[in-house]
Parts: sequence; structure tokens; C-alpha cells
Amino acid sequence: MKNVAAWLCLTCLVVLPCAPVLASSTPPLPKNYTGWQKSGRKLVTDKSSIFYGIHYIYADKKAVKGYQAGNRFPEGSTIVVEYFNIKGNAAAMEDGPKNMIVLMRKDKRAKDTGGWLFAGYGADGKPSGLDPATTCFGCHQKDAAQRDYVISTIKDFKR
Ligand code: HEC
Repeated sequence: MKNVAAWLCLTCLVVLPCAPVLASSTPPLPKNYTGWQKSGRKLVTDKSSIFYGIHYIYADKKAVKGYQAGNRFPEGSTIVVEYFNIKGNAAAMEDGPKNMIVLMRKDKRAKDTGGWLFAGYGADGKPSGLDPATTCFGCHQKDAAQRDYVISTIKDFKR
């Protein structure tokens, strides 16, 4: 155990800005997430919804296992959602420009938000600095407290 602690310490000292990243709980966006298991195309045409537009959910290997287990996710599971504007008319709604990215990662240190880190990013992948506890967790708690706070299910990945 001692060695592990020493290694962690060293890693934090060497890999700056490790400490500020941990403090703000915003992990960098995984570079390879577009290669993960991808959901079907999800279209929300209700303009009063904050999800108006088109989105796709990406799940890493651990998260796929969690979905398969009926939304019981192992530590480290990571889920990313990419949001796009709608281009074109009602007959042919195409993906417009990307407008936002969000991430959830199972991390037992995130005690205030159900054991998940929540993070929001702009279309460029830079953290948008939203506060997870006040901005994100409320809906997930309300809609999916019985499903490990993950609202989508394995059905969203079957096409
Ligand atoms: C207004 C309610 C609401 C708020 C606020 C909200 N979400 Fe969600 N979120 C949802 C819904 C509904 C889904 C399911 C989307 C689907 O099935 O296509 C979802 C899905 C997700 C997913 C995919 C995994 C899942 O739960 O299905 C992630 C990741 C996510 N949201 C992250 C965030 C982050 C990060 C924030 C804060 C920046 C946030 N959400 C704020 C309602 C919300």
C-alpha cells in the first residue's frame, strides 16, 4: 500500500495540473470515445426541451457491461453524449454542427453526485465549468435513482 501511495504522490507532482483537475472534478474528455459502443441516433424535436436536437451516446467497455447488467455500473465506467443542432427541414432532419458534449464517469469519490463525476464541455471539448451538483445531478437523480443515475438503458444501443 505504501508503494501505491508513493506512486500516486509522485504522479501528482509530476503530472501537473493533476491537483487542480481533481479539485474541479472535470476529467479531460477521453480522446478515443468516438470508437466506443455508440447508441442509435436520438432526435428530440420538442423545441421546449433543453435536449432539442440530435444526440448520440457513447459507452466504454465497462459502461457497456453496466448497461447489460440492467444499469449497475462498475467503477470507472464512462459515458459520453454528443449533441448536434438540427439542420434541414422537418422532412429531412440532418445533423447540424456539434453544440455540446457531456460526460459521466463512475468514481466513488464523487459522493455528492451519486458516485458519478458529471462534466460538461463545449463543442471544442473544453470544459464548460458547469457545477455538477447543481446543474446535472438533479435530473439524473429524479429520473434514474433506481438505475444507478443513468437514464438511458441497453435498449438505446440496440439498433
Ligand atoms: C433536464 C434534465 C437533465 C439535466 C439538467 C442533465 N441531464 Fe444528463 N440526461 C438527461 C436525460 C433525459 C438523459 C437521457 C438521454 C437519452 O436517453 O437519450 C441524459 C443522459 C445523460 C448521459 C448519458 C447517460 C445517461 O444517463 O443516460 C450523460 C453522460 C449525461 N446525461 C450527463 C449530464 C451532465 C454532465 C449534465 C450537466 C452538465 C447533465 N447530464 C444534465 C437529463 C438531464
